[in-house]
Amino acid sequence: MSTQSKQTYEKKQIVLTSDKVKEGLNLTRLLESKPFRYAKTLPGIPHWYTLRKHWDLDEFHRSVIILRELAEEEIFFYKKYLVFGANGEKYWTMGAPVDQTELINRTTKEYRSPYNHYSPTYDHEFARPFIEQEDDGFLEFLPKDLGGKRILDVGCGTGWLLDRFEVDPNLYTGIDPSWGMLMRLTAKHPAFVDSLICCSIQDFWPWQHKFDFVFLGRQGGNYIDKNSLLKLRLITTEDAEMYGTCTDKPFQSDTFTEIMSSDKVLFSKAKISVGKHQKLIAGKISDLASPGDD
Ligand SMILES: C[S@@+](CC[C@H](N)C(=O)[O-])C[C@H]1O[C@@H](n2cnc3c(N)ncnc32)[C@H](O)[C@@H]1O
Repeated sequence: MSTQSKQTYEKKQIVLTSDKVKEGLNLTRLLESKPFRYAKTLPGIPHWYTLRKHWDLDEFHRSVIILRELAEEEIFFYKKYLVFGANGEKYWTMGAPVDQTELINRTTKEYRSPYNHYSPTYDHEFARPFIEQEDDGFLEFLPKDLGGKRILDVGCGTGWLLDRFEVDPNLYTGIDPSWGMLMRLTAKHPAFVDSLICCSIQDFWPWQHKFDFVFLGRQGGNYIDKNSLLKLRLITTEDAEMYGTCTDKPFQSDTFTEIMSSDKVLFSKAKISVGKHQKLIAGKISDLASPGDD
């Protein structure tokens, strides 16, 4: 075996701070406000680009620096790029030094999600008595009325929350990296087609408004890493509440185990018959200490 084939590929770990989250939100605001042009010389690789000349120069340079800081590495045609995912799109530069960078590229970010294949049967598979019993138990914890609250549904899937609550599409944002799940949601709730974003919580940068209510339904808490929790605190209002569940293991639920007192996380306290590793997440987001914050 050659030395090269033994090499492992390590992904860059991003550790967010409050300042970096704010910079990410501002960067997304700028990227979403600037003109982008379709790259017609490369029709086989559909993408768009924004030119430095349409930006304030300092703002452009600063944006390229932040973009690279918050980016993940992605290999494309044997070359490594730094790619920033934001609200269903991804952005990258060609890698030249900042002062020689002339454009920022953009295209749709596509996620490989096992839920795409699962989505056609998801609602049917979950319509089992023991799951419905869990859902009923969980519902007891949720506020009875979500009217007037600006809702963020993380991992909204096929729309569990919308199946059960009266919600205004203008006050609702559902995010999910699985387009399959989102298609099922829109089939049931067509009025919500413009309230959905196909992206992960890690790539969600909502700069337009803050949320009052965050929902992490049916183990949505598994996807909340420490960076995302810090982000949630900065994109929600002071009194915002968060409800959901996570499993003990595996995934990222250590995030919650570390920061929540046991009476808040133990689903068993709710006398709900769920798997023994299920935990309830319920509380004010501002009450949660966020490990890793500066
Ligand atoms: C078990 S389903 C729950 C769906 C829905 N909330 C419900 O109660 O039926 C988990 C959902 O989380 C989504 N998901 C997976 N990774 C995610 C991430 N990093 N950010 C946001 N959602 C994610 C999946 O695509 C899937 O639709």
